Amino acid sequence: MGAIDWDRRLFDELIPLPDGTSYNAYLVRGSEKTALIDTVDPEMSQALLDQLASVERLDVLVVQHVEQDHSGSAPLILEKYPDVKIVSSMKAKPMIADHLGIPEERITVVEDGETLSLGNRTLEFIYAPWVHWPETMLTYLREDRVLFTCDLFGSHLATNDLFSSADHPRVCEAAKRYYAEIMMPFAGQIRSHLKKLADYEIEVICPSHGPVHDNSSFILDAYDHWANDLPKNLVLIPHTTMHGSTAMMVDHLIAALTDRNVHVEMFDMTRADLGSYAVRLVDAATVVFATPTVLVGPHPNIVFASYLTGALRPKLKHAAVIGSFGWAGKAAEKTKELCGAVQAEWLDPVFTKGMPKAETFEALGRLADAIAERHKELEAPE
Ligand code: FEO
Repeated sequence: MGAIDWDRRLFDELIPLPDGTSYNAYLVRGSEKTALIDTVDPEMSQALLDQLASVERLDVLVVQHVEQDHSGSAPLILEKYPDVKIVSSMKAKPMIADHLGIPEERITVVEDGETLSLGNRTLEFIYAPWVHWPETMLTYLREDRVLFTCDLFGSHLATNDLFSSADHPRVCEAAKRYYAEIMMPFAGQIRSHLKKLADYEIEVICPSHGPVHDNSSFILDAYDHWANDLPKNLVLIPHTTMHGSTAMMVDHLIAALTDRNVHVEMFDMTRADLGSYAVRLVDAATVVFATPTVLVGPHPNIVFASYLTGALRPKLKHAAVIGSFGWAGKAAEKTKELCGAVQAEWLDPVFTKGMPKAETFEALGRLADAIAERHKELEAPE
């Protein structure tokens, strides 16, 4: 069940959705009880209510995650089925009350590993915090070896293909972008969830965004790579320029890195979208921020890029700041501060007063040497 949101172009007023998205809900009918797993974004609740028109009785509503794109239609489900039992994780219970106004006494907490019988079908609840809020849990339908995962393993992709096997390359691209934007900050938790899930026999994975994974190993293997692989021989250069000095430095650095067999991708942060930068952070070993100085700090475009980089917590190993200034400034120090939790080795910054000069280009050459030396054992990016 659920709704395809073909036209949505922004999520959380932050994440671009070039391919729209979907909000998937799942109806599980047992011989004695019927359960609904997740709902849909409140903007599209009528689509779900229409699908439920022929479902006279609903016994259980499983809220796997409280973010409103999945739980937001729960109050309408309660109106339609006044006796339905809401089940959630311990952490979700007060959050459902806070975010949806549903009284806590309507909610039954299930523990990690607890089961709920629907008669000839059994739901097992698996706590999986931080995918993508602290309260998230998964639901395993034992008899059919189906795992419902809400945000985890999803993709922001509006398509009428029910299964990801219909177009693996397109789903893989959308799922990687989704991983970068939403899941990457929680890579540590994801590694531990993958270990936990290895004990389950899983044939089908049903996320609450994008197609169903009828071949579960497709998405499990992809997550294993994204969360565990070493970063690749790839330097990202998010940059902006005001009067051309920083652009000259970027051009020189790209040529120097190319001479040293280092792959480079540059992102003009005036125009680049968040997703295209985020998805390359999954693989990059190094980022070099390139910024002119505005007053005493980085240009606001690079404030955004560096704060975002820190928030996404990629596997970066090395970082640097290059750029220009008019009279003085602390753009390098402030850019580093904005990166917050990034655990990278910071290489020496390169800054020039006004236009770059011979010594600026020599310093960029030394920066390229330092990066190439650190990248020499790394694999090429995909
Ligand atoms: Fe799709 Fe965290 O909600």
